[in-house]
Amino acid sequence: MNINGIILVAGEGTRLRPLTYTLPKPLIPIMGNPLVTRIIEGLMSNGINNIYVVVGHLGFLFRQLLGDGSSLGVSIRYSEQRERLGIAHAIHRAIEDGADGELIVHLGDNYFGEGLGRFIREFREGDYDVYVVLTRHKDPTRFGNAIIQDGRIVKLIEKPREPPPNSLVMTGIYMFRDSKDVERAFSTIKPSARGEYEITDLIQWFIDNGKKVGYSVTNSWWKDMGTPQDILDLLYLMLDEVKPRIEGEVRGEVNGRVVIERGAVVEGRVHGPAYIGRGSVIGKDTVIEHYVDIESGVVINGGSLSRSLVLSEASLDLGRARLVDSIIGPKSVVKLSSGVVRLVIGEGNTIESA
Ligand code: DAU
Repeated sequence: MNINGIILVAGEGTRLRPLTYTLPKPLIPIMGNPLVTRIIEGLMSNGINNIYVVVGHLGFLFRQLLGDGSSLGVSIRYSEQRERLGIAHAIHRAIEDGADGELIVHLGDNYFGEGLGRFIREFREGDYDVYVVLTRHKDPTRFGNAIIQDGRIVKLIEKPREPPPNSLVMTGIYMFRDSKDVERAFSTIKPSARGEYEITDLIQWFIDNGKKVGYSVTNSWWKDMGTPQDILDLLYLMLDEVKPRIEGEVRGEVNGRVVIERGAVVEGRVHGPAYIGRGSVIGKDTVIEHYVDIESGVVINGGSLSRSLVLSEASLDLGRARLVDSIIGPKSVVKLSSGVVRLVIGEGNTIESA
């Protein structure tokens, strides 16, 4: 039986504008690697080497970065989803373009702290027709919910107004034993009130038709990147696990778990956990406080930063200001003099305080 991975990246990331006007959320780098590359690596390490990437908004950027996958050691094909007609529709598009057999579907904006290995193993060992991964969340109304009775999923509801009792939240990984069943299910479902072919309706067909439906509850963290705060939360979780490595030049001071990539120069102070990307320069009066990711080619002078993500080739002149909880888009220019400032800005912006 063929095995195909499907990664869905056709969303517009509206809650992450202005960043996502030029950079789709799966391409936002964290510690040098965009989420989509990390997802591909996760699939590869579980023996999934044929991957379909379903693209829409700014799809050419995925093609530019990933190409045919050979640089990563996988085979990547692309499916176009011209209209954002829902997750079930995006899966159907990949099947129309040739994804067949066993399907491991991963949303491009999801990430699992424990990796994918246990889920894929349990899916196969249990001989399930469909398998989902669930979690607990403080706001279940933002997600698909699975109602569990006697250890079985009996009903799936997309973004309920009130959290149903005995329910868990659905994460963004879905495994199917046979693409033909997915097509059968897809042919029966209709768009929801928000105009989307919902993944919950697709999998409900498996439940209603007596198929073997399995699930697991993740025993680690899980992130869905909907908002700027979600990206920062994912960054903090990843920085918590960072292994220190210094390949750049330290002329100032570095404390704690810090990665300094080749070609980076630290003249000021960096307190970990922190990541300083290739060729970035941290000026002598700058303090990187903690939970900061500076991507490549960034220049920072003065000020201090904490709990922030600065994307490539940005230039920050911070004076005596303290930048906190911020995301600075690539190639943006920020000039501040004082105060505590929080910014979420896209690519190529100029922000200057009086
Ligand atoms: O993150 C988990 C949640 O993902 C689940 O709990 C929900 O059941 C599921 O519907 C989904 O909800 P979201 O509203 O968060 O989905 P979003 O629109 O953000 O899309 C998730 C990913 O799928 C994103 O990377 C874009 C991609 N996508 C989405 C749609 C609707 C597509 O490729 N095509 C689409 O038509």
